[in-house]
Amino acid sequence: MTEWTKSSWRAKPRIQMPDYPDQAALEAVEAQLARFPLLVFAGEARRLRTHLAAAGRGEAFLLQGGDCAESFDQFSSDAIRDTFKVMLQMATVLTYGAKVPVIKVGRMAGQFAKPRSAPTETVDGVELPSYRGDIINELDFTTKARIPDPEKMLRAYTQAAATLNLIRAFSTGGYADIHQVHAWTLGFTEHEKVERYRDIANRISDTLDFMSAAGVTPETAHTLQSVEFYTSHESLLLEYEEALTRVDSTTGKWLAGSGHMIWIGDRTRQPDGAHVEFASGVQNPIGLKAGPSMTSDDLKVLMAKLNPENEEGRLTLIARFGAGSVGEHLPRLIKTVREEGANVTWVCDAMHGNTIKSSTGYKTRPFDSVLREVREFFGVHAAEGTVPGGVHFEMTGQDVTECTGGVRAVSDEDLSDRYHTACDPRLNASQSLELAFLVADELSNRRAAHRDQAAV
Ligand code: PEP
Ligand code: CO
Repeated sequence: MTEWTKSSWRAKPRIQMPDYPDQAALEAVEAQLARFPLLVFAGEARRLRTHLAAAGRGEAFLLQGGDCAESFDQFSSDAIRDTFKVMLQMATVLTYGAKVPVIKVGRMAGQFAKPRSAPTETVDGVELPSYRGDIINELDFTTKARIPDPEKMLRAYTQAAATLNLIRAFSTGGYADIHQVHAWTLGFTEHEKVERYRDIANRISDTLDFMSAAGVTPETAHTLQSVEFYTSHESLLLEYEEALTRVDSTTGKWLAGSGHMIWIGDRTRQPDGAHVEFASGVQNPIGLKAGPSMTSDDLKVLMAKLNPENEEGRLTLIARFGAGSVGEHLPRLIKTVREEGANVTWVCDAMHGNTIKSSTGYKTRPFDSVLREVREFFGVHAAEGTVPGGVHFEMTGQDVTECTGGVRAVSDEDLSDRYHTACDPRLNASQSLELAFLVADELSNRRAAHRDQAAV
């Protein structure tokens, strides 16, 4: 085995990465990025790891969410603020249901590069290379737009830095005050169609009132007016990742400085491939997507490579099987984890196994399938006696029409109204918050059932 370096991935088979036509331009960009400041600090990544370790033990719960692909065109303060805001609302509702701290991790400030199911795309008989995310090429269907351009990495870095800067300001500058966040949620539950969620919202109000009366206010407890918010993205474009990887002077270990948590996609998790090699050597918490094709043998090798010390919080397994398939795949992988005595945090990505084509031709995801997959995930963990550590959603704070269903029902016909995603369909603000209510309900029912069982 050769020693890990931040470049050792280059000697491994690589897939889903562009072949840049201009090597000199690529090298110039890499050299520039390598001089730029890191976006996150090692201490933050370590802190997130301790939170994820708690989620693996059932003492915290992960909410990971954001765009499928961040885009240069749709970059704005409002878009960042709205996604941040709805995630805080969801987190409050989930905290109420789970009765443990909710860890907030955005698919933000770096989620630019996309794996694709086919290397090319054909429209009206014209075949062009696929769009691979704004950090690589452009969505426009022209020959020029689809040429990979390394300069885009610099723009992605700048956008990530500005996004993170705003998130840090929102997190501590008063915007995240829990009373404020809950007031927004009360605005949502005022609508008559969502009255079934009003009960939980009212119970949260009561709890906040009780806390205030008991002297626990944003003035006395600063955790009520600020939040910890972390960033994450798929570590796909390894030239970008490598250039932002540095040694952390406190521990002497390597840190991928592009975001707090990075994950390996379901298409690029070959045990001997470039993406696994890169992730194996950095100290960030690592996510590993696991779809139906994940074998027990691969999982064993991957756990050994990605978490050789078997540290809690280091490895998050993000299951994405699709509604109706969780029962077929999750138990066998839980068995593998158990046999290996491995520490992992189990999270449910309820999006990527539920993509369908609507009758109107749009790529969409039915709200009910997303909810069903989460419920199946909880059900399997309850049956196995293992811990469901969190949920992972593609979502936005904008009022888009990309996923169908929800109380303000989006139909197949509505999809064309505001279908803005550059890649996969996202839950809109209302669907995201509704889902949080339903998941919170599920969590609190399961807690109650567990308590009753314990009392018998
Ligand atoms: C994604 O998270 O956007 C993605 C491509 O997921 P997966 O690797 O699970 O397909
Ligand atoms: Co996606």
